Amino acid sequence: MHLGLEKKIVLVTGGTKGIGGTITRAFLEEGATVHYCSRTKADIEASEKQLAIDFPDARAIGATVDVSDQSQLSEWVKASAEQSGGLDVVVANVSALAIPDDVESWRNAFQTDLLGLHTLAQAAIPYLEKSKGNIISIASVSGISADFTSPGPYGPVKAAVIHYTASLARQLAPKGVRANTISPGNIYVDPGVWSGIEKNMPDLFKSQMDLNPMGRMGKPEEVANAVVFLASDRASFVSGSNFKVDGALCEGVQF
Ligand SMILES: NC(=O)c1ccc[n+]([C@@H]2O[C@H](COP(=O)([O-])OP(=O)(O)OC[C@H]3O[C@@H](n4cnc5c(N)ncnc54)[C@H](OP(=O)(O)O)[C@@H]3O)[C@@H](O)[C@H]2O)c1
Repeated sequence: MHLGLEKKIVLVTGGTKGIGGTITRAFLEEGATVHYCSRTKADIEASEKQLAIDFPDARAIGATVDVSDQSQLSEWVKASAEQSGGLDVVVANVSALAIPDDVESWRNAFQTDLLGLHTLAQAAIPYLEKSKGNIISIASVSGISADFTSPGPYGPVKAAVIHYTASLARQLAPKGVRANTISPGNIYVDPGVWSGIEKNMPDLFKSQMDLNPMGRMGKPEEVANAVVFLASDRASFVSGSNFKVDGALCEGVQF
């Protein structure tokens, strides 16, 4: 399927590693220009070099940005849009991955996942209105089920990400801007969250692996494929959706 994402200008938060790193590569494969960020300068420098080799016909521009810092984040959005001449797609991928049920984790989760998404969206909307572009938030099935991460901030904040993104979809639809959420299930990346749990908490890893009806966890490419589809005009009437990529992990039926 031809997605028509060539020359589109895309922003991905947390684009050096894990799911965000794979999303960045998926857009570059489609010929898009990708601005991506993370907090670690050395990773930005190394990934820029590698992406220039792997995708000589596309443009990947990294920046050291902490999405929990509102002014850094909105300046990066504006600078990226000015540099590349606009914005077509924004992917809010970063999470504090804050699971413990303590005040510091709740604060981190709110500041990074929710306020980070709000700041990103508010800075990007003027550009997306011009391009009739779209926003994709990466939430989690933990936002729609009280799973092993409960009680704690991770699930509730992801639920708020789904809700806020659906609200954006309603607000922005008359202006031709779409907004959707993708909720991954267990996605195995090495190094990553699940490879760390496999090493340090093998019992938890086994119990969570056993819950997957497909007998395996997902691959980051399987999330990235859904992202590029939703970002493209092939999904031109899809807005306000929460698209699960979980291999039927969730038992609940989503109405
Ligand atoms: N992995 C899963 O099984 C799974 C399942 C459901 C949902 N998700 C969701 O998918 C998204 C990505 O998860 P992941 O597992 O791929 O995470 P990850 O492997 O930890 O990668 C996170 C990326 O974000 C960057 N990052 C983290 N905090 C940042 C911040 N404050 N500012 C800027 N960049 C930041 C990291 O680089 P630096 O550390 O250098 O900043 C890295 O590039 C998250 O929203 C997560 O909740 C993941």
